[in-house]
Amino acid sequence: MMVRDVSREVTHGMDEGSSTLVEMLLRQWDGEEVVIRYDRPAASWIVIAIHSTQRGPASGGTRMKSYPNLDLAVQDALRLSAAMTSKFVVAGLPQGGGKGVLAVPQGLSTEERAGLLRRYGSLIQTLGGLFQTGPDVGTSSADMNVISETAAPYIFGRTPDSGGSGDSGQPTAVGVFEGIRVTVRRLYGDNSLAGRRVVVQGVGSVGGPLAEYLVKAGADVLISDVNADAVERMHRHLGVGVITPEQVYDTPCDIFAPCALGAVLNRDTIARLRCRAVVGSANNQLETSADALRLKERGILYAPDFVVNVGGTISLAGGERMGWTRDEVERRIRDTVTQVLDQIYDLAAADDITTTEAAQRIVESQMHSAHA
Ligand code: PHE
Repeated sequence: MMVRDVSREVTHGMDEGSSTLVEMLLRQWDGEEVVIRYDRPAASWIVIAIHSTQRGPASGGTRMKSYPNLDLAVQDALRLSAAMTSKFVVAGLPQGGGKGVLAVPQGLSTEERAGLLRRYGSLIQTLGGLFQTGPDVGTSSADMNVISETAAPYIFGRTPDSGGSGDSGQPTAVGVFEGIRVTVRRLYGDNSLAGRRVVVQGVGSVGGPLAEYLVKAGADVLISDVNADAVERMHRHLGVGVITPEQVYDTPCDIFAPCALGAVLNRDTIARLRCRAVVGSANNQLETSADALRLKERGILYAPDFVVNVGGTISLAGGERMGWTRDEVERRIRDTVTQVLDQIYDLAAADDITTTEAAQRIVESQMHSAHA
């Protein structure tokens, strides 16, 4: 006979068996709260995930993108905001993690888009500083100027002529480049990039400047992007090789640098990879936590994304809230990425754990020491 455990139903008030995906996601999430609004004029969903305000206001970029449904937009916001909490610990800055997601229909007009940004700004304003945001995939510094009309002073990364620090893609690339050097030193004993082959997936605001730094350092760079114009421009500008988006996973190289969207490291792609290490800027590169182990088992060294891409955060929050100069920002990005990655690689090797696990342990101990 089956004995039903009614206590669970009493405490949750609902039968988990019939939960919607959003209910399940929120139960599993360890963050603080989520604000969801349907914006009728732009037929868009606004999702603001506030993961942690323990160390300071929940901060993180605003991602604008089309999602198949609200569940996937919420899932993205929850995961991305949690990564921001870790990123601010790594950066040593007094902020917590948050993320904004604007789930838009395809083909929004310029006016509809601007209207959505202003209403999103008003919503941020009502949160009174609990959530602060800046650019992310699908939004620019010019968009931050628009959001700022209704959400000042809670916006990072406005254009320099509006008093912001502008695009954080280039400072993010400084950190990724440093991460590649640290990783190459681990693999080969010296950090020279001369002749090392690096595959850069995505040549947008981070991948573009990264490819340029790599070429200058003498690396053999191959690029790929779903945007054919961007690839063509980079090819003409730098003379780098071009591969198709699908070839990215099968091309032999020293370093694979994912600089586009997340979840590119999964059961499927990891089996195909022919690189020695993965070091890139995309947020949430691992599709599931099991993928960290898959990489380890294949002997591929993985540089945790939220450490490698900390440069954007240091540039925006450090430059605009702490008053650091551009030189100081770049020095701090290089020092942070070098120190933290070295620490992660040492711990992962010593304890025979994945680099993701090592990174989590380091973040946790730093979080507690900051409170002590
Ligand atoms: N979106 C970037 C990131 O994920 C930059 C950013 C950092 C935006 C902090 C706002 C606040 O790191």
